[in-house]
Amino acid sequence: SQQSFEDLKRLQAQLVQSEKLSSLGQLLGGAAHELNNPLTAMVGYSDLLTATSLTDEQRGLAEKMAHQVRRTKTLVSSLLSFARQIPSEKTKVNMNALAQTALKLSQPQLRARNIEVQSEFATDLPQVMGDSNQLLHVCLHIANNAMHAMEEAGGLLTVATRHENHMAVLEFSDNGPGAREPERVFDPFYSTRPVGQGAGLGLSGCYGIIQELAGRIVCENRAAGGATFRIELPAVKSNVRNFSIRKPGHSSSQSAESENQACASLPLPPTP
Ligand SMILES: Nc1ncnc2c1ncn2[C@@H]1O[C@H](COP(=O)(O)OP(=O)(O)OP(=O)(O)O)[C@@H](O)[C@H]1O
Ligand SMILES: [Mg+2]
Repeated sequence: SQQSFEDLKRLQAQLVQSEKLSSLGQLLGGAAHELNNPLTAMVGYSDLLTATSLTDEQRGLAEKMAHQVRRTKTLVSSLLSFARQIPSEKTKVNMNALAQTALKLSQPQLRARNIEVQSEFATDLPQVMGDSNQLLHVCLHIANNAMHAMEEAGGLLTVATRHENHMAVLEFSDNGPGAREPERVFDPFYSTRPVGQGAGLGLSGCYGIIQELAGRIVCENRAAGGATFRIELPAVKSNVRNFSIRKPGHSSSQSAESENQACASLPLPPTP
């Protein structure tokens, strides 16, 4: 039937995508790994340099250098996480809290670009299993792309969550120009941004992270204009079931505490 043909086509596209990602990931992971150590040393030395007695001009130059080295290191760690060489630490994650953190962290840039934010968080949103750092990175990146898309004229970023078919769904919608080719946005090195501004790796990294969690991430243009990015992650099974298989000695209050910590201990991302 037409439906199963469409399903097959989608499955095939997913397979091609993950093949592309895994061979590219191995290549990049190797290179990024080699770059990481000397870069760490360079960050250290440039910090030491700025701490010595320098003229104002020298200090200015040393600070510029430190800033650029940090930028390179951030790029290398995004390559590393794209290659998924940083082991992920999975805990139960509340996507409402995570999206809220991402919005808070993006606030200065959103404000500077005249972008209004509207959020609709579902109160019955189930928790998901994932690495909170990686998931935060995904949210920040999608928000960041939306900001680039709405750079010119400002706009509205809508963030919504809902509970649907045992999935936690998180949607970011903007009212920018929409994606030129929505089906290509997750391709490694696909970028429509000016040369030197976008590597085209952001969304392919996000795709890898979500895929590893047996979730789905899709991009669609909205009828009303703008793009929507939807993330669907499997809900963690109900607490009652978890409780029965919990090892003896762990009280439920302890576990509730560690869940809260998983959300509260989100580190701040590197300053841009
Ligand atoms: N909100 C959006 N609206 C319109 N187009 C978008 C949006 N988000 C992503 N895109 C398109 O998808 C492309 C790929 O995005 P991706 O984040 O992977 O790379 P990039 O932002 O170009 O570079 P970088 O590697 O720095 O993230 C973008 O260049 C843009 O064409
Ligand atoms: Mg990007």
